[in-house]
Amino acid sequence: MSRFHHMLSKSSRPVITATIVRCGVGRSISRQNTREFRYDKFYAIRDGNSGELNLGEAIVEATSTHPIPVDVHYSFARAPHFQQTLEDAINDQINIEYNVSYIYHSMYAFFSRDNVALDGFAQHFKKESLEERSHAELLMDYQTKRGGKVSLQAIMPPQLEFEHAQKGCGLYALELALSLEKLNYDKLLELHKIADECGDAAACDFIEGELLKDQIDSVKENAEMVASLTRMGADGPHGGLATWHFDKMLKK
Ligand SMILES: [Fe+2]
Ligand SMILES: [Fe+2]
Repeated sequence: MSRFHHMLSKSSRPVITATIVRCGVGRSISRQNTREFRYDKFYAIRDGNSGELNLGEAIVEATSTHPIPVDVHYSFARAPHFQQTLEDAINDQINIEYNVSYIYHSMYAFFSRDNVALDGFAQHFKKESLEERSHAELLMDYQTKRGGKVSLQAIMPPQLEFEHAQKGCGLYALELALSLEKLNYDKLLELHKIADECGDAAACDFIEGELLKDQIDSVKENAEMVASLTRMGADGPHGGLATWHFDKMLKK
């Protein structure tokens, strides 16, 4: 007979109720024979005389802090410390990522025009557009994981023309992209600040690890492209040729 069973007479053995199993604490049953385990902390014990059910202190704490929602529209996974402010901020960031994606998609359409014919730029901005959309999806997945509700908002109609008399369309679009990437970084920092103010360490970790680092890389990559095309003289008298060469480089 196990040590655990020695400790309890047959009559005083705890009654395991459905409540315990639903709370997920039932897993602790497998630990009942270990030396450290305090059975009375997790078990509901029915009083032999009164028949009343006395819940273990851990069960009381778990079910009062995290009651199982009765409303099916409410997330089962959501913890009370995942605040509405952070949920709203994540939805705002999803919208920003979609807006940036939409602008890059518009650039893709512009550079694909037969009278522009810069396929390297077109493919570059198509890739960038998909990347921003993947960021939106990453945030949607995280929102869902935490028990928040994804609330998609309207997307602004994007700019359609990217010609620029002095700089040419290539340099102008890349400079615009650089500004957008920097703005996106600012917005991610704001989101991180909100997560921090909500005391949500997990959200801070997600934003730092999955988004902020990549955003820094994107700003650097865009800055280097602007620097290269400027050095090639895109904003000078032979700007058209510089843009055409850069387009060929983007295709490689
Ligand atoms: Fe992004
Ligand atoms: Fe980006």
